[in-house]
Amino acid sequence: KKIVLAYSGGLDTSVILKWLQDAYDAEVVTFTADLGQGEELEPARRKAEKAGIKQIYIDDLREEFVRDFCFPMVRANAVYEGEYLLGTSIARPLIAKRLVEIAHETGADAVAHGATGKGNDQVRFELGVAALDPSLRVIAPWREWELTSRTRLIEYAEKHGIAVPKDKRGEAPYSVDANLWHTSSEGKVLEDPAEEGFEAVCQRTVNPEDAPDRPEYVRIGFERGDATSIDGEPLSPATLLTRLNELGARHGIGRLDLVENRFVGMKSRGIYETPGGTILMAAHRGIEQLTLDRGAMHLKDELMPKYAKLIYEGFWFAPEREMLQAAIDHSQRYVSGEVRVKLYKGHCQVVGRSSPNSLYSLAHVTFEEDQVYDQKDAEGFIRLNALRLKLMADRKKRLGEN
Ligand code: ARG
Ligand code: SIN
Repeated sequence: KKIVLAYSGGLDTSVILKWLQDAYDAEVVTFTADLGQGEELEPARRKAEKAGIKQIYIDDLREEFVRDFCFPMVRANAVYEGEYLLGTSIARPLIAKRLVEIAHETGADAVAHGATGKGNDQVRFELGVAALDPSLRVIAPWREWELTSRTRLIEYAEKHGIAVPKDKRGEAPYSVDANLWHTSSEGKVLEDPAEEGFEAVCQRTVNPEDAPDRPEYVRIGFERGDATSIDGEPLSPATLLTRLNELGARHGIGRLDLVENRFVGMKSRGIYETPGGTILMAAHRGIEQLTLDRGAMHLKDELMPKYAKLIYEGFWFAPEREMLQAAIDHSQRYVSGEVRVKLYKGHCQVVGRSSPNSLYSLAHVTFEEDQVYDQKDAEGFIRLNALRLKLMADRKKRLGEN
């Protein structure tokens, strides 16, 4: 019996590692992904070695994560419930994919994860695994064991000599999930949605009030919907996002305090920091403004909430997500050019855009003389659009309504 565990090296998955060895009497393989969470991964290796693990996978997935998961999502302008940029949601399918690959490489018959039975992540991991290899068994210790709270988890850790990390106040930390796209925090004081939480949990961005008093400008180049350069310098996807994260963090950009609807039916409150992603999403909209046809843009905007919900609910590998992606990707053919963004005290504002593929026609739109547009055409255009409104107004009058 062999189990591949998605192992961050943090408290929860360290307890799970010990528990799996005992409860299942199984050989455990650990898999730790570098998704740009900005943490040292060597401690995870050392902890796994100390726990007697022989097969330890530590994979740098940063480029794949940004190129094949974040960027497709940016093409869609995906936002869940009007605000959430999906930073945890989008990382789960990649972790699921790699778990399945490692299970195949090592001949394991099961995979395990540290998500609780109350959340979205369990669904995302397990729908991903089901789509890629339904013969693999999934073990979710949080749904099985008797450690039914964080408090009990910490007791178990202390009993078995597993280090319990402390935050700046010397307390066990919030439930944090970080990658190159975002950092999310949930739990503890955040569980009261009436209480402000930014100062207690933000770790990646400065408070906008303390950000520089001078604005900073950045130029982002796009090719077919994907960002490819900053200030004229070509950069790989992960390098580019890393650069935008530094800029965004310095200017306090991308902080979000949200009460959201989890897939399992409950509401939860989280704080999100998505500095680079927030800039990138704004810039992508900026370049689409010039290069997308109205019909294509409005259809994309209608599809977007559906697409975002599929990612949130763990259906990355579902055919309907792939269908929507194909349509979205097709729309990006001319979405190339450059966008200038101004960063200032928590705000990022598109202030300029240019493209060789622009549909913007000064000849048509100018308030000055033009040779291409006959304003008289608008008369008939409005008359026919008004026709049904007039017919209904006539009816109201006839029936003596209002
Ligand atoms: N609520 C967010 C989401 O569902 C963040 C989840 C954070 N997950 C975690 N294991 N800390 O995408
Ligand atoms: C968890 O329950 O493990 C984290 C929160 C979530 O998945 O929604």
